[in-house]
Amino acid sequence: VTLGLDLGTSGLKVVALDASGTVVAEETRHYPLLTPQPGWTEQRPDDWLDAMSGALQALSATLTAQGARPVALGLSGQMHGLVPLDAHGEPLRPAPLWNDQRTAAQVSDIEQRIPRAELVARTGNRAVTGFQLPKLLWLRDAEPDVFARTRHALLPKDYLGYVLTGELATEPSDASGVGALNLMRNDWDADILGELGIDPAIFPAVRASTDVTGRVTSEWAARTGLPEGLPVVAGGGDNAAAGIALGLTSARPDVGSLSLGTSGVIFAPLTQPTPDPEGRVHLFAHADGGYHLLGVTLACAGALQWLHDKLAPDTSIDALVDEAATVPPGAQGVTFLPYLAGERSPLMNPDARGAFTGLSLAHGRAHLVRAVLEGTAGALADAFDVIRPLAPLRTLLSTGGGARSDLWLGLVSGALNVPVQPTRARPGAANGAAILAMPAAGLHPDLQTAMQATRPDVQEPVQTQEMHGALRAYEHARATLYPTPATSQD
Ligand code: XUL
Repeated sequence: VTLGLDLGTSGLKVVALDASGTVVAEETRHYPLLTPQPGWTEQRPDDWLDAMSGALQALSATLTAQGARPVALGLSGQMHGLVPLDAHGEPLRPAPLWNDQRTAAQVSDIEQRIPRAELVARTGNRAVTGFQLPKLLWLRDAEPDVFARTRHALLPKDYLGYVLTGELATEPSDASGVGALNLMRNDWDADILGELGIDPAIFPAVRASTDVTGRVTSEWAARTGLPEGLPVVAGGGDNAAAGIALGLTSARPDVGSLSLGTSGVIFAPLTQPTPDPEGRVHLFAHADGGYHLLGVTLACAGALQWLHDKLAPDTSIDALVDEAATVPPGAQGVTFLPYLAGERSPLMNPDARGAFTGLSLAHGRAHLVRAVLEGTAGALADAFDVIRPLAPLRTLLSTGGGARSDLWLGLVSGALNVPVQPTRARPGAANGAAILAMPAAGLHPDLQTAMQATRPDVQEPVQTQEMHGALRAYEHARATLYPTPATSQD
């Protein structure tokens, strides 16, 4: 079996997969999200290590009892976070995460020094609040003593790889979320970094996602029960790794994915690195050597969770969604803008905020729920409008917790005007990390073969739901509150 690790925002998951992609064992451990100030999100690297040793120890014990032998471990995890290490490889502070919003000043600094068109052409992205590069600039501005002691800037999963093996390394899919990777060369862009006064040597070497970057040390073998010397494979950022698990490849750019998770994510594989010139959606390297576009709406199932927690904590989320089905399309005039956590694609505006409009005395909870489902679908349609001309997508495979609801998937399918196909097992990033480790372990000759062999069952498209009226109302509300989506950060 190969092992896959996903360092998520709420917890760390490890899975063991056989060569056909079947999960033979899995373990999850949780850790807290720290919010020391409004708009800040951090986690303690030590909490990640406790979760990693606990999960791997339990997984090793299960595998030993089953007589299964791990032959390689692949990494994946939340993108964009900053783990600053000192000269001894010790973390210098808690890691600010992908959804942290503290870097507005540094983002405008980058935008002033480097023309947006040039940044997008080189890195695939404009300056984005959550990315790692503005976090590093923030550290230099706000905590100069810590910055002065920072020798290495690692992404979250690459820190775990460093701890397990003693080797500093990253790979293109996660590195392209730093904001300073030249996508043409898959290496750090010395011109951009020079303009910002950052030494490229602070970042680790960029290896291929399927490369072995190191081997499990004797210390961590003893701590986890894993074989000493177990090869550790670079892996991928969580979105790229989840794409690998769904079988999404740059060789088939007509098949993408739709994830209704805390955030809503549209993933579109690409053979060539073609960015949106405005940078309203992300362009990242894929873990298969190609590229992908990523549209991210920050509150999707997270918006439904919020409504549930505030208005209906005693009802199950599934029951709430059933209530929405009793209300006609358009929620009888109630419209919801889901920007509860600011918005990325396409508004790129961390200060955007949510709204309900069109309320009357006749409306009740079911209308609010329906409006949340339709409004989150509208926000995904906004992101898809940017992706559509850049990618040859013909169908989307669905994943994430919200994919349990055919109604919600059908609303998104209606809003995007594209088929949405559920996958029976909804394999995640940890599965993708284990698949990325298969070629190095000799389980399959190459990644394409490994993806073929592990591809999940794809079902018929869900029934499309009527979204015309709801979409018009959503667009009207968005245009009223946020009239110029592409330039709101100018
Ligand atoms: C992608 C992004 C998130 C994190 C979450 O740009 O910020 O999907 O990777 O884990």
